[in-house]
Amino acid sequence: MDRGSKPAVLVTGGAGYIGAHTAKALDEQGFLPVVYDNLSSGFREAVRWGPFIHGDLRDRAALGEAIAAYDVSAVIHFAGLIEVGRSTKKPDLFWDINVAGTTNLLTVMRERGVGRLVFSSSAAVYGQGGRSTQESITESAEKAPSSPYGDTKLAAEWMIAAQCRAYGLTAVALRYFNAAGADPSGLIGEAHEPETHLLPLAIAAALGDGPALTVFGQDFQTPDGTCLRDYIHVTDLAAAHVAALRVDLPPGAFEAVNVGTGEGQSVSQVVAAVGRAVGAPVPHSVGPRREGDPASLVADPRRARELLGWRANHSSLEEIVADALRWERNPRYGAGLRQVRHSIRSEVPV
Ligand SMILES: NC(=O)c1ccc[n+]([C@@H]2O[C@H](COP(=O)([O-])OP(=O)(O)OC[C@H]3O[C@@H](n4cnc5c(N)ncnc54)[C@H](O)[C@@H]3O)[C@@H](O)[C@H]2O)c1
Repeated sequence: MDRGSKPAVLVTGGAGYIGAHTAKALDEQGFLPVVYDNLSSGFREAVRWGPFIHGDLRDRAALGEAIAAYDVSAVIHFAGLIEVGRSTKKPDLFWDINVAGTTNLLTVMRERGVGRLVFSSSAAVYGQGGRSTQESITESAEKAPSSPYGDTKLAAEWMIAAQCRAYGLTAVALRYFNAAGADPSGLIGEAHEPETHLLPLAIAAALGDGPALTVFGQDFQTPDGTCLRDYIHVTDLAAAHVAALRVDLPPGAFEAVNVGTGEGQSVSQVVAAVGRAVGAPVPHSVGPRREGDPASLVADPRRARELLGWRANHSSLEEIVADALRWERNPRYGAGLRQVRHSIRSEVPV
């Protein structure tokens, strides 16, 4: 591969959903995305825009070699475990990978003189707290994670912030709200296994590729009783990473920034939008609430506009659903990829 003079960015977790889309955006913006991933939930096929290194976050030597081999000047850190439910059953594993793994990465970055980081944080750091469901969330809102997953994201942020102060690292933590959609090319998209996210589950149900959808709770204090979430197109999210990499910040700066649209969509609205796009209703039933599900998580995105000059351009529900559907309907990728995922899964145990 011609590395030319492109600045190399290590993309941990770049074989995963958001990382792959960001690797594409980096390539389009003149960077070389060097993907470092253990393929525990990512796909080798999703690494298309730069070199791939098969490695684990907990392996310091391999991280160091990857940084040295490509003369990496910055890191975008996506790698980690993401399933909220699993985190309640295996909190130690989540702390090991999401927190201790991040510590490893920071140590290696310091040893190798890499001073710039963009970190995948999450709206899960907020929880519902004392907010009413009408309020959008600013970055200074109370932090009240409602799962071990959210705890690990907040702990990692704290540690990164402390290392910025102590060692002059410059970091931006992007607190994503609900990532959704797929690249318009249909080549990359969402394929978690197990899938727990609403949109792919609703599409699979509507296409007859998956079981009927369960809507978790219809008795929230929201306009139609179902949870409100802020869905952000993964293409917009990828652009936010490039903006966070480029923003002019002094050594030692740490910034936490919400990445969302500022608009909440209810579960029922998403289900209806999928039905319209597919041309068939989404088979679904209503079940009990899931433990720890906040009624509403909607970003106040002003800080992202001010600091990063970023705003969501592709995140109408219609565009998100149309792009997700194109991916899911691609027999080679989408649902097809999910079906073959076990044959391409790495042997690395997590
Ligand atoms: N998907 C969302 O809506 C969402 C919302 C908020 C935050 N996030 C955060 O964004 C990041 C990416 O999420 P995603 O949806 O793309 O998930 P994903 O599971 O598709 O991607 C995670 C990637 O990390 C890799 N990985 C996991 N453990 C690793 C390890 N120990 N060493 C090396 N690689 C490892 C996986 O193989 C995978 O490719 C995560 O940190 C997640 O917490 C996601």
